[in-house]
Amino acid sequence: MHGPGDFELSRRGVLIGGAASVAATAAPVAEAAPEQAGSAGAGTPVMAKVGFKVNGKPHALELDTRTTLLDALREHLLLGGTKKGCDHGQCGACTVIVDGRRINSCLSLAVMHEGDSITTVEGLGTPEKLHPMQAAFVKHDGYQCGYCTPGQICSAVAVLDEIRAGIPSHVTGDIAGKPAMSADEIRERMSGNICRCGAYSNIIEAIGEVAARRKA
Ligand code: FES
Ligand code: FES
Repeated sequence: MHGPGDFELSRRGVLIGGAASVAATAAPVAEAAPEQAGSAGAGTPVMAKVGFKVNGKPHALELDTRTTLLDALREHLLLGGTKKGCDHGQCGACTVIVDGRRINSCLSLAVMHEGDSITTVEGLGTPEKLHPMQAAFVKHDGYQCGYCTPGQICSAVAVLDEIRAGIPSHVTGDIAGKPAMSADEIRERMSGNICRCGAYSNIIEAIGEVAARRKA
């Protein structure tokens, strides 16, 4: 049988015991710190300067060398259009265009982009004057929640340029010839951009319309 007093005692005991174990685990960390002094330990940021253009505007930053291009855009330049989905190169939400080629900005360190010219969704068009791809996504309802959309649009813009430049994909029949501006080519090339809302058919329609307009 336990009375209320016993409960209080044992509860206090648990709290004291807990504090003691926190102190016990914290102590070695505190002692280890001086050994790391003077060497660049895992927790010591190494800073570096980098300069690049984003949407035509030059930026000079001093960043922890571990900063991804995605975090540099979002956290340092406050350009929140580019989205962080998986942060592991699996969803395409972070796609931006660097010197004309699309990349997953979560997989690229910002300091690797010295002198580069980067285009994000903010640089494609404005609310008053949408880029044709942005306008086509609106017209065809190429989104539901919209989280994947900036990456889809940046990817789509670069995909049409890739096809036009004759760069083959896995579904290009004759890699010595020019790839067709077909739905199969577009689907294959957009396969790295995941849409959890499943707006794929509308996305393909939007890209197809821009592709057809350019062909005409
Ligand atoms: S956030 Fe970069 S690929 Fe998912
Ligand atoms: S529109 Fe919601 S994830 Fe694509």
